Amino acid sequence: MNPGSPPAPGERKAPATLGAALAQALAQGLDRLDAQLLLLHALGRGQQERAWLLAHDQDPLTGAQREAHEALCARRLRGEPLAYLVGEKEFFGLMLAVDARVLVPRPDTETLVEWSLQVLADRQAPAVIDLGTGSGAIALAIKHRRVDARVEAVDRSEAALAVARANGERLGLDVAWRCGHWLEGAGSGYDLVVSNPPYIRAGDPHLQALTYEPLTALAAGGDGLQDLRAIVAAAPAHLAPGGWLLLEHGWDQAAPVRALLEGAGYTEVGSRKDLAGIERCSGGRWNGGRQGPIERPDRDQGRAELG
Ligand SMILES: C[S@@+](CC[C@H](N)C(=O)[O-])C[C@H]1O[C@@H](n2cnc3c(N)ncnc32)[C@H](O)[C@@H]1O
Repeated sequence: MNPGSPPAPGERKAPATLGAALAQALAQGLDRLDAQLLLLHALGRGQQERAWLLAHDQDPLTGAQREAHEALCARRLRGEPLAYLVGEKEFFGLMLAVDARVLVPRPDTETLVEWSLQVLADRQAPAVIDLGTGSGAIALAIKHRRVDARVEAVDRSEAALAVARANGERLGLDVAWRCGHWLEGAGSGYDLVVSNPPYIRAGDPHLQALTYEPLTALAAGGDGLQDLRAIVAAAPAHLAPGGWLLLEHGWDQAAPVRALLEGAGYTEVGSRKDLAGIERCSGGRWNGGRQGPIERPDRDQGRAELG
């Protein structure tokens, strides 16, 4: 196109301002928030600067910024997660770096963190292990809120652990990261074993829409309960008396997971709902496989000394 001439019929005019770039992205079918965050990223600005963007919609775009924004919008329209495009995702008040090596942490998983913090509330310096940590989301959120906790995190993917470790270092949160298979090689006496394991069953149509995220983080094969079963069976050998196992699972897996927990002898078995009102996490307490009041040697000792 000759720079001085109007666009020929059918020829798209390159947006000259931030506002025009946003309008073009919306016309292509992009969600407004996504278009704004991608534009901020193309401008080298942070996600928290949306107010700045609204106040500067008549500012000019350079050619390089326009091309960067258009390329990002095209990738988003093909289904690539926004978090991978901007390289970060907020989780439980922490900004985590994410890329295609890890699952993008979901807001629903914050339910699991809230429940974890509640069960740890009455424990001093609790021992916690996060299984399948991915970006480190759960482990880091717990450590951030409970600085006195001794937090370990395991993933079988070295690539995922590199992302988690870097997040921990950047945020200054001390978590012990380890590559491994669930609880193999783990110690004992944990107050909390927490996990958001893969739980999508083989052939589930949802997998087709999740092609950008690691399949090993999502799919559990068979009926989708394979990893949940393994963790439910292994955790009692590692839990302190009265310790909790809390698990995230699929939208239709609460009843089977509660049945697994009850069948294995956990007590106080229950579920928690996510933001959409779906039972998304289930858990139970380990009391040595016995029903009835939980004996906590440290507390019972304290009570005996008090007379
Ligand atoms: C659903 S993602 C959860 C990631 C993160 N905890 C979150 O909530 O965003 C499951 C994670 O489990 C890890 N994983 C899968 N199988 C595993 C195994 N056998 N042992 C340890 N980690 C495993 C995957 O690599 C992946 O990072």
